[in-house]
Amino acid sequence: MTASVNRRFLLVSRPEGSPRESDFRLEDSPVPTPGPGEILIRNHYASLDPAIRGWLDDAPSYLPPIAIGDPVRASTIGTVEASGVDRFKPGDWVMGLNAIEAYSLVTPNDFMHPIDVSAAPSVTSYLSAMGAVGLTAWFGVSDAMQPHPGQTVLVSGAAGAVGSMVGQLAKLRGARVVGIAGGATKCARLTDRYGFDAAIDYRGKDEAALAEAIATACPDGIDHVFENVGGVCLDAALRHINQDAQILLCGLISEYNGDPHGARNIWQLIVKTATMRGFLIARYADRFPEGSQAIAALIGEGKLVFDEHIEQGIDNAYPAFMRLFDGTNDGKMILKLV
Ligand SMILES: NC(=O)c1ccc[n+]([C@@H]2O[C@H](COP(=O)([O-])OP(=O)(O)OC[C@H]3O[C@@H](n4cnc5c(N)ncnc54)[C@H](OP(=O)(O)O)[C@@H]3O)[C@@H](O)[C@H]2O)c1
Repeated sequence: MTASVNRRFLLVSRPEGSPRESDFRLEDSPVPTPGPGEILIRNHYASLDPAIRGWLDDAPSYLPPIAIGDPVRASTIGTVEASGVDRFKPGDWVMGLNAIEAYSLVTPNDFMHPIDVSAAPSVTSYLSAMGAVGLTAWFGVSDAMQPHPGQTVLVSGAAGAVGSMVGQLAKLRGARVVGIAGGATKCARLTDRYGFDAAIDYRGKDEAALAEAIATACPDGIDHVFENVGGVCLDAALRHINQDAQILLCGLISEYNGDPHGARNIWQLIVKTATMRGFLIARYADRFPEGSQAIAALIGEGKLVFDEHIEQGIDNAYPAFMRLFDGTNDGKMILKLV
């Protein structure tokens, strides 16, 4: 039965630096009724992604900024509660770029599609391994990076949702894979659970110490960097790249809450005739079914594992989101709304 109240997590001011709780507000409003061409979705889970931090700023990006007073945009999975669109029936599971709110009133768009929960390891896997982070890892490795046996791949943010899958997929292609993560527990998980060849704990290390650790873990230099973090991780990595290395910029999370750090050692790109380029998963939208099928097959064969960190309740949206920035998430960060 449809509840009478739609609890929503609103943006009320643009964060300066690290988001504060007062930048957001929880608000209860009436549950809307869909008109012709509209669907009411009961959101069961919301994906908490580092990308949301970028959408909080009034800055040019691949999507417009979240307007002040609007609910915080997020990918969600949920069930159709009521429908004014023939092809969506009440009870259908759907996924879309909606918001952190109990109910979303949407007009079907390119981001919204039905999901077959019986064809996935779990409902939430559509926000993790089978969702944007898994697809980022899949197309990042199999299309953009294409590492070969004998090459060395360095992954930052390696114990996270994207990084952990990147490392496993690069290993499946025969590369030597080294991960950078925060703390001994996460580093142990890199080698013991995700099969990385070596792990580096970046915490407490400046650029020189990190560069030294990378030199030890990558004795043959680095052929591919899968960059999720930026800052000193990227600076240190660039000191050890090989001739014609490729640096794939997937994310720069260490810089999202502060001023851009800038890449200090880009002169190494000249010396090593290396390439550094950006990667955006949205550019692969027309190939998502192919990526999801490949990921599902690898999971089914037991060749790929993934982890989810599920926090409960919309009232915990702020602390759960901030876990992405203090590193206390252990896997894909998901908020359970129902
Ligand atoms: N380009 C694309 O299309 C695309 C798509 C998806 C994600 N991404 C990017 O991929 C990266 C990872 O995203 P995710 O969803 O997989 O998140 P995640 O890795 O599961 O979680 C974020 C992790 O980042 C690390 N971190 C946070 N602040 C840091 C800092 N200052 N220095 C070093 N590490 C820090 C923390 O791990 P530790 O405990 O190890 O510090 C934290 O657990 C992000 O940069 C994100 O923006 C890009």
